[in-house]
Amino acid sequence: MTKTLHGSTAESEDLARRVIDIVLRRQRDAWPLGGQVEPAVLAQRVGKTITSAGLGGKEALRRWVDELAPATVAADHPRYFAFIPHAPTEASVLFDLVVSGAGLCAASWLEAAGAVHAENEALRWIADLAGFPAAAGGTFVPGGTLGTLSALHAARHAALVRRQGVRPARWKLAASTDGHSSIKQAARIMDVDLIEVPVDGRHRMTSTGLRGALDAQADDGLFAVVASAGGTNLGLIDDLSGVAQVCRERGAWLHVDGAYGLAALAAPSKRAAFAGIEMADSFTVNPHKWLFAPYDCCALVYRDPAQARAAHNQSAAYLDPINEGADWNPADYALQMSRRARGLPLWFSLAVHGTDAYAAAIETTLALTQQAAEAIRARAFLELLIEPELSVLVFRRRGWSAADYDAWSAHLVASGAGFVVPTTFQGEPAVRIVIIDPRKTHADIERVLDSMKDAPR
Ligand SMILES: Cc1ncc(COP(=O)(O)O)c(C=O)c1O
Repeated sequence: MTKTLHGSTAESEDLARRVIDIVLRRQRDAWPLGGQVEPAVLAQRVGKTITSAGLGGKEALRRWVDELAPATVAADHPRYFAFIPHAPTEASVLFDLVVSGAGLCAASWLEAAGAVHAENEALRWIADLAGFPAAAGGTFVPGGTLGTLSALHAARHAALVRRQGVRPARWKLAASTDGHSSIKQAARIMDVDLIEVPVDGRHRMTSTGLRGALDAQADDGLFAVVASAGGTNLGLIDDLSGVAQVCRERGAWLHVDGAYGLAALAAPSKRAAFAGIEMADSFTVNPHKWLFAPYDCCALVYRDPAQARAAHNQSAAYLDPINEGADWNPADYALQMSRRARGLPLWFSLAVHGTDAYAAAIETTLALTQQAAEAIRARAFLELLIEPELSVLVFRRRGWSAADYDAWSAHLVASGAGFVVPTTFQGEPAVRIVIIDPRKTHADIERVLDSMKDAPR
C-alpha cells in the first residue's frame, strides 16, 4: 500500500513532540559545539537517507540528531566567536515554526495582509531608529548580499529615470576597500565598475577619501556609494555624515551596509556613532546577526520606497489582481516574488519582549566587548590591534605565524573548546572575536584568550 504524504497519524504526533523537544532543549540546555567531518566519513556514518520506502519519522530524525547535527558548528554556542555568531531568542525560534506552518506566501498584501502588517511594524521600528521619514519602508530578504544587490538595482534604476533613460558609457559604484565582499559581488552581477575608496588611518571611508576617489574618475555614471555601518572584519563604522554629504553633492544614492553593525542603533550608547544614517537612501541590517532572530533574515529599508517599487515590481497577467491596487506588496521592494514571511520571528520576539529588552541586550554585548578588550590588554602575549567600536575584537598573538593560528583554531574546535578563526590585519595574520550574544560570559572569553598562551603543537 502506498503511504500518503499528508495528514496526521499517531507516528506524526510522536514526531511533533520529538521535534518540539529538540527545539526547546536547544534553547534551554547546554549543547555541544559540534565540528567538521570529512565528507566520506560523514556519508559512511549517516548512510543512505533517501530511499524508495522512506526511513520513517523516528529514524530520519535520529539520523539528524545523532549524525548530521553534530557535523555542524553551533553558531549559537557560548564559545562560538567566529565570523558573526548567532543568538536567536526563544520567542523568535518558536515563531519561526509558526511561520513554517502558517501556509502563507508573504509576497503581497492581497494574500498576507496580517503578516505584512506585522513585518512592517518591525521595519518601522528599525526605520525610526535610523531617523528615516514616515514614508520609509522596505522588506525582509534572506541576507545582506541580496539586500544590497536589491538596493543597488533600485539605485541604478532611479539614476536612469533621472537621466531620462540615457545610459552612461559605464555605470559606477563606489565603496571602501574594506567594504564587504557582497558589494564586489553586486558590482559583478550588475556589470558596473567598482570605484574602490581608500580608507583613512582609522580604517574608515571619509568624505575626503571618497571625494578623492571620485575626482580621479571620469565624471559620469556614478549612481551609488555603499558605506559600511560596522564592517565585518574590524567592526568599524564609516564616516556616514561625510559620505552622505558627498553623495548629495554628486547626486549619488547612499546605501549603508549595516548587515552586522546597524543593530547597535538600538543601543542608546552607540546611536551617535551612526550619525548620518538618517541621510541614507537605503540600508540593510541582518536580524539574524545582532537582532536575535533565526536565519535567514535581512531588513532592507528605503527612504523612498516608490523608487524601489519602480525598479522591482514584476508585471504579468496573473499578477494584475495584486498590482492594480495601492497595497503594500513586499515582493515590490527586492529581487523576490514568492517569499517566506521571514521578518515575523523578529516581529514576534519584539512584540513579546519590547524594544527596551533589545537595547539592554545589545548594551550588554557592548560592555562584554570592552571587558574583553581589557582582558586582551592585560595579557602580554596578546596585542589588541584596533580599539573596538562595536563588538568586534581584532588582536594578535605575539610571535605567531599564520600556520600557528591555523593549528590553534583547528585544535580549539576539535577539542570543543571554542570556534574562532584567523583573519588578517594590514596583511598580517591576526584573529578576531565577535560578541553579539548577551549570554556570553567573560569567563568563556578568557578561556579562549588563554588557550593562545602556548603555541599549538
Ligand atoms: C557587513 C556585512 N555586509 C554584508 C554581509 C552579507 O550578508 P549575508 O551573509 O546575510 O548575505 C555580511 C555578512 O556577514 C556583513 O557582515
